Amino acid sequence: MTSEKTVLITGTSSGLGLATAIGAAQAGWTTIATMRDTGKADALLKAAAEHDVADHIQIKRLDVTDPESITACLEEVIAEHGRLDALVNNAGAAHIGTIELIGVDEVRTAMEVNFFGVVATTRAALPHLRASQGRIITVTSVGGVVGQPFNEAYCAAKFAVEGFMQSLAPVAATLGIDVTVIEPGAVASEFVANLNLDLPTTLAAAGPYAPALEAYIARTRQSFGNAQTPTDAATPIIDALTSDRPPFRIQTSPWARDFVSTTLADLDGSAVQALTSTWVR
Ligand SMILES: NC(=O)c1ccc[n+]([C@@H]2O[C@H](COP(=O)([O-])OP(=O)(O)OC[C@H]3O[C@@H](n4cnc5c(N)ncnc54)[C@H](OP(=O)(O)O)[C@@H]3O)[C@@H](O)[C@H]2O)c1
Repeated sequence: MTSEKTVLITGTSSGLGLATAIGAAQAGWTTIATMRDTGKADALLKAAAEHDVADHIQIKRLDVTDPESITACLEEVIAEHGRLDALVNNAGAAHIGTIELIGVDEVRTAMEVNFFGVVATTRAALPHLRASQGRIITVTSVGGVVGQPFNEAYCAAKFAVEGFMQSLAPVAATLGIDVTVIEPGAVASEFVANLNLDLPTTLAAAGPYAPALEAYIARTRQSFGNAQTPTDAATPIIDALTSDRPPFRIQTSPWARDFVSTTLADLDGSAVQALTSTWVR
């Protein structure tokens, strides 16, 4: 059993989750770095050794779409460490396509990982976070605030997470639990590679949507050219973990702040439509 504060992070095999695990360990937290396939732990183990924080990091299996793995992981954490002070819901997956092409099942798949996974993990962690008066930090996206072309399923899931957390926040606060959402723009992680997108095949199957999809992909490639590093994007997550009273909503870069402000000040929705329609022409 440890007396150090303990944080559980989902999706730490790569990208933002991996960088957050390193940052949390550097900040002195006992870090439960979870992943759905612990066979993919090499990158994290290597980074932990390089940053001399391996003794603060414990790797455990957790698939956010598998309720038994969530329960088993939390039981182990409490048995071994006696406490949970923070949950970082980071696991997520991109989904590209428009509804006529992808179908309803793919939207359900996107919701399973990006929304219901967050809901299930949060619910399971809440009794322990009540005991510690801890906090819930959830990585959403600028796509959880601004709907983006060919991201209907992904943005719907991230909007759902934002609505869920914004609603939970005042309730959790009555029990001393802080709730924060983190909104990154483009981050140079495995996010795009994990899509396994076969571009020629996707474009060939896109029918009347092909010109717009091609324009969108060209624009997205450009924006990922200026992507934040995972370490830079993880810095505000560590700030939210360690500060006295984190705000509800944090963007990870000036670009992300500027972009989400488009929606937050767009009372009739015309500003966002004017902006995103240029992405597909
Ligand atoms: N990269 C961006 O541009 C960007 C922008 C805004 C928001 N985000 C958000 O940032 C978060 C982290 O993404 P990233 O950019 O770091 O991408 P990433 O490198 O692809 O990392 C995603 C992580 O989630 C894990 N994951 C996927 N499905 C899971 C499941 N069912 N259970 C547990 N873990 C699962 C992946 O594990 P496997 O290795 O097993 O697939 C991986 O560890 C996501 O919530 C994403 O939506 C990313």
